[in-house]
Amino acid sequence: MPAENASTPGTGPVAVSAGSPLLRVDDLHTSFHVAAGEVRAVRGVSLTLDRGRTLGIVGESGSGKTVLARSIMRLNIGGNVSTSGNVEFEGRDLLDLPLKAMKNLWGTELAMVFQDPMTSLNPVVRVGRQLTEHVRSNLGAGRGEARQMAIDLLREVRIPDAEARLRAFPHELSGGMRQRICIAIALACEPALLFADEPTTALDVTVQHQILNLLGREQRDREMAMILVTHDLGVVAGRTDDTIVMYAGKVVEQAPTRVLFTEMRHPYSEALLRSIPRIGQRSHTRLSAITGRPPDPIDIPPGCPFSPRCPYVQQKCREEPPPLVAAGDGAGGASHLSACWYPVGTDAGRDAFARNLADRLPQTVVVAEGSEFAESAAANAAAEATAANGSFEGGGA
Ligand SMILES: Nc1ncnc2c1ncn2[C@@H]1O[C@H](COP(=O)(O)OP(=O)(O)OP(=O)(O)O)[C@@H](O)[C@H]1O
Ligand code: SF4
Ligand SMILES: [Mg+2]
Repeated sequence: MPAENASTPGTGPVAVSAGSPLLRVDDLHTSFHVAAGEVRAVRGVSLTLDRGRTLGIVGESGSGKTVLARSIMRLNIGGNVSTSGNVEFEGRDLLDLPLKAMKNLWGTELAMVFQDPMTSLNPVVRVGRQLTEHVRSNLGAGRGEARQMAIDLLREVRIPDAEARLRAFPHELSGGMRQRICIAIALACEPALLFADEPTTALDVTVQHQILNLLGREQRDREMAMILVTHDLGVVAGRTDDTIVMYAGKVVEQAPTRVLFTEMRHPYSEALLRSIPRIGQRSHTRLSAITGRPPDPIDIPPGCPFSPRCPYVQQKCREEPPPLVAAGDGAGGASHLSACWYPVGTDAGRDAFARNLADRLPQTVVVAEGSEFAESAAANAAAEATAANGSFEGGGA
């Protein structure tokens, strides 16, 4: 088992938050054994989550977010999967639990909302039946009681004309409505922990906000713990207590979410932040996409996995994997961790960036020019606003 990024021996898993945890994941590894080799999808992830708390898991496509969530829930089924480590949920060791006992937890104490509602809903069964059957089989409710619970749940997730909607087939509903149905099913048995895996990626922007707000409201009202998986760092802002940033199957930074945004230390987190489109951004502002591609999970480079793309990279990064350690003495205290030799916002990071810029390292130049571009765009916008104010005042005089 690779040692890098595992918990420090003897200290147990890294605590995301204080208090008695609902979920404790320790040094979790998941691989898929395929003809081309071993796909190392999750490589030593540790985290804890308390009751009623929210955790964001953020990273690009292929970083291992879904495999991590599915490994915790033991949903990675197939003869070619191997998982090791420890997953403790409400004091139970999930990886050792008999499959029958595990299945009893699915949908009751552990629930999941997937990216595409059509993969969770049966297209040939009316949504009302899907909801009532779930309630009846998991809660033992009678027919009438289950129907009333289904109506109440649909109202709770803000589906208008709930009674009529029970008779609809999934394809007769909009994408947002279908996702609301999935959320209703997931909430039906009052789970202690809800995984929401890219729950809004398939929806348009307005509906995305509505669904995220709905999830947030339900999470707070029910005091339920929630893990929100997303590729978009902007989605977790203001919505999760803590955030984990994943790259190539590892946690590269974790912190209370507000600390992550104010004291970001990892160059990959910074790159994700740069790639968020900002409200109010002028339409011609260039988006700073991250140069290069994530590594092949069968052939992950030695040293830091982000090194081929990192604007701060130095020779040490290519040789030695950086451990996940305390990110300094900032506001996040011991709960802010980062795996980087030349962290953002430190003298070491600034020097590394300056050296690479002097050497015209392509990914460093792109970032430097991107920020110059953004700064000059902001300066232009400010100048234009001043000029517009001036002409308005002049015209009114
Ligand atoms: N069943 C499987 N067999 C082989 N490889 C797999 C399997 N499932 C996932 N992988 C690989 O594991 C890696 C992590 O995949 P995962 O689905 O967790 O990524 P992700 O972070 O959720 O990405 P996305 O944002 O696209 O959903 C990827 O390289 C993926 O191709
Ligand atoms: S500075 Fe080095 S260690 Fe840090 S992210 Fe970049 S490549 Fe990795
Ligand atoms: Mg995924």
